[in-house]
Amino acid sequence: MLASNQTLFKMCRATRRLAPATLAVVVQCTAFITLILSLNVIHLILALSFKADLTIPIFVLVLMQALTAMAFSYLFGMASWWRWIHLCFPIAVWAMSHWPVQNEIYLAGFVVSLSLFWTTFRTQVPFFPSRPIVWQQVAKLIPQDRPVRLVDIGSGLGDLSMHIAKRRPDSHVEGIEIAPLPWIISYVRAKISSSSAVFKLGDYQALNFANYDVIFAYLSPVAMLNLWEKAHKEMLPGSILVSLEFEIPGVTPSLCIAGHGLSPILYIWKIA
Ligand SMILES: C[S@@+](CC[C@H](N)C(=O)[O-])C[C@H]1O[C@@H](n2cnc3c(N)ncnc32)[C@H](O)[C@@H]1O
Repeated sequence: MLASNQTLFKMCRATRRLAPATLAVVVQCTAFITLILSLNVIHLILALSFKADLTIPIFVLVLMQALTAMAFSYLFGMASWWRWIHLCFPIAVWAMSHWPVQNEIYLAGFVVSLSLFWTTFRTQVPFFPSRPIVWQQVAKLIPQDRPVRLVDIGSGLGDLSMHIAKRRPDSHVEGIEIAPLPWIISYVRAKISSSSAVFKLGDYQALNFANYDVIFAYLSPVAMLNLWEKAHKEMLPGSILVSLEFEIPGVTPSLCIAGHGLSPILYIWKIA
C-alpha cells in the first residue's frame, strides 16, 4: 500500500515537469482509463453477485469523466483554472456532438486557433491585448527629450506600437510577434494606416536588447525570469524595461504605476 502510494506520488511529481497542454491531455486520458476500469469492475461485481446489468446514461458518463479529470488535475498539481477547463471540456465535446456543425467550420476554427496561439504551447504566453490607457502610460514614460528605440516584445495586433509611433514620430518603434495571425494583422494595419511602426515575425529571444532604449513586455509569469536574464545581460545603462501586469520574481522595480479599472499595474526597471 505504502509502495503504491509512493509510486503514485512519484508519478504525480514527474508529470509536473510536462508542459501544461501535454499534462492536460495526460489528465483527460488518465481519467478516461480510470473510469473505464472502475466501471468494468463494478459491472463485473454486479453481474456476478446480483446478476444485474450496469446501465449508465451517456450524459452521466460524460459528467463522471469531467469530475474525474477535475480531480486528477488537482492531484497532478495543475493551476486552479485548469480544474474548470477539465470540468467543462468533456461537457463541451458532448454538447457540440449534438449540434450539427459542418466539418469545415471545425477546420476553420482549428486553423484560426493555431495561427493565433501558434507557439503558446511552448512559450506559455497566450495572446490578450493591452488597453488604450496602457499605451498612453507607456508613451508618457519614455524619454521625451530625445528620439528613442522602442520594441514591444510579443506585439500582438500592434496597437501599442502604432499608438507610440503616432505620438513619437521622431522615434523608432518596433513590434516582434511569434504567432503568424496577429503578426500579419499588425503588419497589414500598419500599412493601411501608414504607421511608421515596424512589425517583425519572430521570437524576441533572437533580438539584441542592446539595440533598444525601451523594451515593453506583456507576457506571462512563466516568461519573466528568462526575460530578466536576457535584459540584465544585454540592455545598456539608462535603458528601461517595462512589464505590464507581471513582476520579475526577486527583482524590485524602480517604479510601479497603479492600474486603472481593468488595466493592470505597470512595472518599470531602469537599467543601471
Ligand atoms: C499578452 S499578448 C500582448 C500583446 C501586445 N503586446 C499588447 O500589449 O496588446 C503576448 C503576445 O506575445 C506573443 N509572444 C509570446 N512569446 C513570444 C516570443 N518568444 N516572441 C515573440 N512574441 C511572443 C504571443 O503570441 C502574444 O501575442
